Amino acid sequence: MGAEAIARDRPTAVLFVCLGNICRSPQAEGIFRHLLDRRCLGDAFVVDSAGTSDYHAGSPPDWRTAKASEARGVPLTHRSRPFTVGDFDRFDHILVMDRSNLRDVLEQARSKADSAKVSLLRAWDPAAEGLAVPDPYAGGERGFDEVFDMCQAACEGLLARVMEDKSRG
Ligand code: 4NP
Repeated sequence: MGAEAIARDRPTAVLFVCLGNICRSPQAEGIFRHLLDRRCLGDAFVVDSAGTSDYHAGSPPDWRTAKASEARGVPLTHRSRPFTVGDFDRFDHILVMDRSNLRDVLEQARSKADSAKVSLLRAWDPAAEGLAVPDPYAGGERGFDEVFDMCQAACEGLLARVMEDKSRG
C-alpha cells in the first residue's frame, strides 16, 4: 500500500501509559507525534497518553521532562488524565512503561482482545537491554535524558512495525 492509501485508511490509535502521566508517557506521546510530523503521517494516527493513577490529573508534564524534551526539539502540550477502561475501545495499541503499569492496565482488560493491545513500550526496541522505561520522578534531573533516549528508540521501532502492518493492508 502506498503513502496515499495509508493516509485514506482508518487511523491507527496509539496510547502511551505510565503511572502519573506527567513524565514518561507524555514524553513518549510527544516523541511519537514528532516522528509522525517528520514523515507527514499525522493524519494516519491518533496519539494520546494516560496515567494508571489520577494523582496529577489536569497537570502539564513535569518540568524536568518538559526541559529534556524541549532540548531535543519535542515540545509537550499534554495534560495528565487517568487511563479508563474505555481506552481499550478507542486505541489499537496501548504501550506501557514498566511491569507495574502492565499489571495495572491488564487488570482492567475485559477480554483477550483488550489484553492483546497492551505491550511494554521497550519491547518494540530490538536493541533494548531491559524492558522497562524506569520511573524518573523520584530521582533528580539526571535520568530524564536517558528516558528520552529509551522512548525515542522504542517509538521508532513501534512506528516501523505499525507502518509495515499498514502497508500490508
Ligand atoms: P510518570 O512518573 O509515571 O512517568 O509520569 C511519575 C509521576 C508522578 C508520580 C510517580 C511517577 N507520583 O507518584 O506522583
